[in-house]
Amino acid sequence: MKRYEALAELIAADIRTGTIPAGSKLPSVRKLRAQHQVSASTVFEAYHRLEDRGLVRARERSGYFVLGINQHAMPQASSAAPQPAQVDISQLVFAILGAVQDRNILPLGSAFPSPKHFPLPRLAKSLASSARFIDPWETVASLPPGHLALRQQIALRYLGLGMPQAPENIIITNGALEALNLCLAAVAQPGDLITIESPGFYAPLQAIERLKMRALEIPVSAQDGLDLDAFESLLDQHPVKACWLMTSFQNPMGVSMSEQKKQRLVQMLSARQIPLIEDDVYGELYFGARQPLPAKAFDTDGWVMHCSSFSKCLAPGYRIGWVSPGRFARQVEQLKLMTTLSASVPAQVAIADYLQTGAFDKHLRKLRHTLESQLTLMLDAIRRHFPPDVRVSRPQGGYFVWLEFAAGFDTLRLHRQAAEQGISIAPGPIFSACRQFQNCMRLNFGGQWNDDFEVAMKRLGRLIAEQ
Ligand SMILES: Cc1ncc(COP(=O)(O)O)c(C=O)c1O
Repeated sequence: MKRYEALAELIAADIRTGTIPAGSKLPSVRKLRAQHQVSASTVFEAYHRLEDRGLVRARERSGYFVLGINQHAMPQASSAAPQPAQVDISQLVFAILGAVQDRNILPLGSAFPSPKHFPLPRLAKSLASSARFIDPWETVASLPPGHLALRQQIALRYLGLGMPQAPENIIITNGALEALNLCLAAVAQPGDLITIESPGFYAPLQAIERLKMRALEIPVSAQDGLDLDAFESLLDQHPVKACWLMTSFQNPMGVSMSEQKKQRLVQMLSARQIPLIEDDVYGELYFGARQPLPAKAFDTDGWVMHCSSFSKCLAPGYRIGWVSPGRFARQVEQLKLMTTLSASVPAQVAIADYLQTGAFDKHLRKLRHTLESQLTLMLDAIRRHFPPDVRVSRPQGGYFVWLEFAAGFDTLRLHRQAAEQGISIAPGPIFSACRQFQNCMRLNFGGQWNDDFEVAMKRLGRLIAEQ
């Protein structure tokens, strides 16, 4: 890491934790030079980097200030004790996802970034050229764990993070969604109690509903994710069978747990022999200096099942994901065999070929930069068009912001009104088994930001003001 990057990281961490609060002035260049023994240009570079990341803004002749909208304004997780619940969410989710599929609708409610950010023409080349050399035998005998060259490439990426996973323990799936569902089916039965996040991604809710399990919703705070003390006492009170959560750039809040917390979480679950199904689909989309380690990096006994995919960062339609399921590898492999047999062989071969060219990291660097700049545009648009009392998360990766309006505000109603004007949003209740978060919504800033987005944000602002 360059010196200015390291300095920017230190300051960003202070902003994240609230040590330097929103609205306050950053220390002067002279003070930082003396404190960190660096040159003035290093300090300026660090400040520019923080400005690019949308964390601070320069005011003429006054210095740099921490921007006003930030996650510290977000509420703490609710302190009410969660109760196990039956889940009935799918119809609501289907109705809302329907709007995302319409090309004429501006997809602020979508779960994907714009496909224009992906190197699809380059991948198509890999698909065309590698398809000619696919071993014909492989197209009929392609069984789990999946295409070896692809598993080796994924293993190399784990190695790059300093957390080696053997290629034979990596199972290729149809996107992360299949990986997550296989993991759940491998470790739990109908009636079992599964802890999930609240607010949280709707797929665990749907899986729990389909498999007739029960959900225990654990509140997540926008500052640092799960409250581990509260979580531990819940584990002592309830017979939890498995835990499904996101530890980095959580959907919908964008929040990440610190690596220290991830380590403690793994220790806590392993000691109770509770499997952790870790959804890490946004892990590569970080804005900081390096990828945050997943909880899996701290897993010494194989209780963590790490799931991810190429859907959010490279090739959504190829439907290629994977899982490194630790001690449950054989159960997951057998379930894969019994359900969908294998993922598409040409898609696996094409992605393996693309990864072998070494182009992936360059693409990711560009994508992260684009997303981070678009976060700034989104926050700016919120500041200009939305009421001043709206509270907004400030993610350090991914492409979602989470907004909270005053109590009583109805984002389901906003969703219907916005759809009539050609805009989708993701209303809060789809992220909860008990349909909480009526006054919250998730917005996607990973589209192709252009004038249409500006107009859409302005229209949304008007609808919000009318409510
Ligand atoms: C948090 C989260 N996990 C998993 C998935 C599914 O990933 P994939 O498209 O690779 O199946 C999504 C997609 O929306 C997601 O948002």
